[in-house]
Amino acid sequence: MTAPVSASPAAPAADQSAADATVAVLSAAPDRSEAADRAAALFEEAYGYQPDGVWSAPGRVNIIGEHVDYQDGLCLPMAISHRCFAAAARTPTDRLRLRSAQDATILDIDARELTPEAVTGWPAYVAGVLWALGKRISGGSTRGMDIMIDGQVPLGAGLSSSAALECAAAEAIEALLTLGTTPLERVRAAITAETDFAGASTGGLDQSASVLSHEGHALYLDCRDFSTRPVPWDLASQGLALLITDTRAEHSHVDGEYTARRADSERAAEALDLPTLRDADPARLEEHLAVIEDEVVRRRARHVITEIDRVARFDALLADGTVREHVTELGALLNASHDSLRDDYEVTVAQLDVAVDAARAAGAHGARMTGGGFGGSTIALVEADQAQAVADAIATAFAEHGFTAPEFFLALPSEGAGQDR
Ligand code: GLA
Repeated sequence: MTAPVSASPAAPAADQSAADATVAVLSAAPDRSEAADRAAALFEEAYGYQPDGVWSAPGRVNIIGEHVDYQDGLCLPMAISHRCFAAAARTPTDRLRLRSAQDATILDIDARELTPEAVTGWPAYVAGVLWALGKRISGGSTRGMDIMIDGQVPLGAGLSSSAALECAAAEAIEALLTLGTTPLERVRAAITAETDFAGASTGGLDQSASVLSHEGHALYLDCRDFSTRPVPWDLASQGLALLITDTRAEHSHVDGEYTARRADSERAAEALDLPTLRDADPARLEEHLAVIEDEVVRRRARHVITEIDRVARFDALLADGTVREHVTELGALLNASHDSLRDDYEVTVAQLDVAVDAARAAGAHGARMTGGGFGGSTIALVEADQAQAVADAIATAFAEHGFTAPEFFLALPSEGAGQDR
């Protein structure tokens, strides 16, 4: 999807050659308050006056629960420290003016006449939120605003740069127009912006994680009603870390494959005569599968049903608040998730499988792809003092395969969308 991005400005790119591939760089997100100041300064430079405020929303990794959100499933994502910033001010007009620090496109449009056809590219992810919130805006009120976007979430890395953009916009629009929306209503507006305005038919995992996550916690998300519960996920205090590898694999035909998987899962629910695959009973898996004639659809169903069950089991293991205590079982669930996405759902590519295999061989407790697949990122649950060694092993494996050098981040469970200044 087409959100703007910069690789984090403070982070050196990990573009080692094969010869020095073993010095992988673990990049960090730029400091949040410095980044907010930068967004405000960029706003002032562009528009010639100071913004009313700066709002931001994070990217996410999904720890487990992949390709199940659109089947009413369970997910366990967390917000990461890379954020998208929106410096914004209300104007006494009806013009929506939009710029980005990462892209030269400028949008200047009558905000009363927004239509999905009228806006394309990354501005659609912002304009779409204003459009989705339109019915909350009282008739007599102007809806004009100036916005400067400054995105840090790596683009195309499967870390939800689009959701971060939508959700930062939702926070800014809520504050500027005082609409009285709840966080969940902003999640829904961001989902509508993505599916109905930008035209990417995704399932809501990303926007929920970006708005509703809390620092130090993962987010238990039930996609049946988008209810959530924070789950303690403080790896650092337990000597553990979650290593993100952005494989930088080019993904082609992503949207088409995503839509095809959604359609397969709908066919599976239909074959089982169930509203969604969430309604299947994992304890009767074989019985369910036996009813599905099409071999491919049967495998898709097996992924979705077993993945929802894995999330339930992962969450149950975390009920006592410790990760360390259950790290072996948690790692096994991560591994099983990846293997199912590779073999049954068929959404991995060579780079994802190589990163996961290398992480496991280097001692990770568990590793899997995260996000939609067909490129993007993997995560590995590792001992904190082995994160560098695991990153080195992945970088070496990539060099041996002749792949573009990957980038590495630590997934630090961060706060969801909010106001910065
Ligand atoms: C993408 C979509 C999400 C979800 C994941 C797979 O990130 O945007 O809604 O379907 O893929 O879990």
